[in-house]
Amino acid sequence: MAELLALVDDQMPDNPHFLFANWFEAAQREPAAEPTAMTLATVSDEGRPASRIVLLKGHDKRGFVFYTNFESRKGRELAERPVAALTFWWPWIERQIRVEGRVQKVKESEADAYFASRPRASQLGAWASSQSRTVSGRAELDREMQAVEERFRDREVPRPPFWGGYRLHPDRIEFWQHQDQRLHDRIRYCLEGTDWVRERLAP
Ligand SMILES: Cc1cc2nc3c(=O)[nH]c(=O)nc-3n(C[C@H](O)[C@H](O)[C@H](O)COP(=O)(O)O)c2cc1C
Repeated sequence: MAELLALVDDQMPDNPHFLFANWFEAAQREPAAEPTAMTLATVSDEGRPASRIVLLKGHDKRGFVFYTNFESRKGRELAERPVAALTFWWPWIERQIRVEGRVQKVKESEADAYFASRPRASQLGAWASSQSRTVSGRAELDREMQAVEERFRDREVPRPPFWGGYRLHPDRIEFWQHQDQRLHDRIRYCLEGTDWVRERLAP
């Protein structure tokens, strides 16, 4: 599929995953940029929203994968309410993509394979950090890291049971493309049954 610089109504693909892949490829052509960074929004069981940046580690027709600590704030919120929203902003190509849907943990085997591909320091960091808990100071983190280095000295670091991936299965994806005179393009895809329904929204 050729790159779509404007979202022309009768040239849009029926499946938004093709358009995501097309734009993601365009975004990756800028070497200094980090197109995998995305805002992840979750909501607590009292309905309080929270957002933070995580990195996209996989995308296909099933959805969008990220990795984190299951006991972090986001992990606890996803356990209570397994729904989330993602936002990508790629200013160097003047585009935004918004994604919403249900979230499921990825299979253990998939998480193991990804964890094994990470640098050793990141693997040790996953064990050392009780993400989102309060700590007494930097020294406590350094002590945790030393203890973990000692524990796994001269052996492979296994994936912690409290760390893994989530896949957001989208039922809504919106593409935003800057256009002149502020009449930006907005195309939203909504999943109805097994079909994606496409609509244009006013900017
Ligand atoms: C560029 C960037 C990338 C990040 N990637 C991740 C990530 O992939 N997974 C993760 O758990 N946290 C990542 N973080 C840290 C999160 O933004 C956040 O601080 C952390 O996950 C704790 O969030 P929580 O307390 O809401 O669970 C990243 C932060 C930045 C700035």
